[in-house]
Amino acid sequence: MTPSALSNPAVRIRAHGGPEVLELHDAPVGEPGPGQLRIRHAAIGLNFIDVYQRTGLYPGELPRALGMEGAGVVEAIGAGVTHLAVGDRVAYAANPPGSYCLRRVMPAEHVCRLPEGIAFDTAAAMMLKGLTAQYLLRRTRPVEGLEAGDFVLWHAAAGGVGLIACQWARALGLQLIGTAGSAEKCALALAHGAAHAIDYRREDWVARVREITGGQGVKVVYDSVGKDTFEGSLDVLRPFGLMASFGNASGPVPPVAPGVLAAKGSLYLTRQTLFTHLRDRATTQAMADELFAVVADGRVKIRIDQRHALADVADAHRALEARATTGSSVLRP
Ligand SMILES: NC(=O)c1ccc[n+]([C@@H]2O[C@H](COP(=O)([O-])OP(=O)(O)OC[C@H]3O[C@@H](n4cnc5c(N)ncnc54)[C@H](OP(=O)(O)O)[C@@H]3O)[C@@H](O)[C@H]2O)c1
Repeated sequence: MTPSALSNPAVRIRAHGGPEVLELHDAPVGEPGPGQLRIRHAAIGLNFIDVYQRTGLYPGELPRALGMEGAGVVEAIGAGVTHLAVGDRVAYAANPPGSYCLRRVMPAEHVCRLPEGIAFDTAAAMMLKGLTAQYLLRRTRPVEGLEAGDFVLWHAAAGGVGLIACQWARALGLQLIGTAGSAEKCALALAHGAAHAIDYRREDWVARVREITGGQGVKVVYDSVGKDTFEGSLDVLRPFGLMASFGNASGPVPPVAPGVLAAKGSLYLTRQTLFTHLRDRATTQAMADELFAVVADGRVKIRIDQRHALADVADAHRALEARATTGSSVLRP
């Protein structure tokens, strides 16, 4: 089926598996209930969490809708929704999954009005990734604090979250050391504000981080790669440093014995998720306002390097998993 043949094209999975389990179907939508709204998407964001949900690494009930990020226009509002009106331009990163569609009815709580200057595709490319960079750089702090000039390490620095983080870290005066999987990706990270970039597929990145920091190590490692980088990340932290694990692109991190943290310098370990931070409307709006501000004044530019039609979502997943993307990917409903 082509999307135009459907009243409301949407993507679902009926089994966990590879990109081939993504199927386009017709998902009629009704009127929003209390606390809900109906949105007509103009653009949809692609995120690595969509891959985890598709494969079942993050299990859920089947059949299952996917997608946690989108932007568009409010078509209808349910009772009790006071922060938005019909016709508003909006964007969100939110549960439950289901943004891979033209229209959806969803909870309004985490949907934010979009500032005039931010286009729909930019918004769809930045809400989940940008709010993640926001809570990691602004709300996930080492005990010894984080000040201008401090070194932090950010893995996968040329990815969707990564390129936003490089720019935001520079705006905060941090010296972000980025890792990435090719010379081209390293150049991209540097062009977006990383102070140093290391090709971790070719170089001994642990030795390089030690060298760059004069043997001191970094105050924080932001690690979304997971299995492949976890141990090395602990090795490049300063005493009392913070390991902020927030993803598993290479596979989940195996269980860790707390004694390891003592042996490597009384380290702190946290595993963060955006959805703990988006705990209510006020917090979500405050985080989004910070993101809108850095995008509006140009401190952070949102880079969309891949665009796909919603019907080609399997190709988009294949590219993301094959490490063949940079920056953000957007789907067109
Ligand atoms: N916990 C949270 O709140 C939260 C929120 C948003 C995102 N995340 C996590 O942050 C990460 C980035 O998300 P994103 O959507 O912006 O994706 P992305 O960074 O654009 O893509 C993932 C990148 O991870 C790197 N990577 C390293 N080993 C890999 C492997 N074995 N397979 C695939 N990729 C590998 C690749 O970059 P290189 O080629 O440069 O290695 C790849 O491009 C993901 O792990 C995601 O789950 C977590």
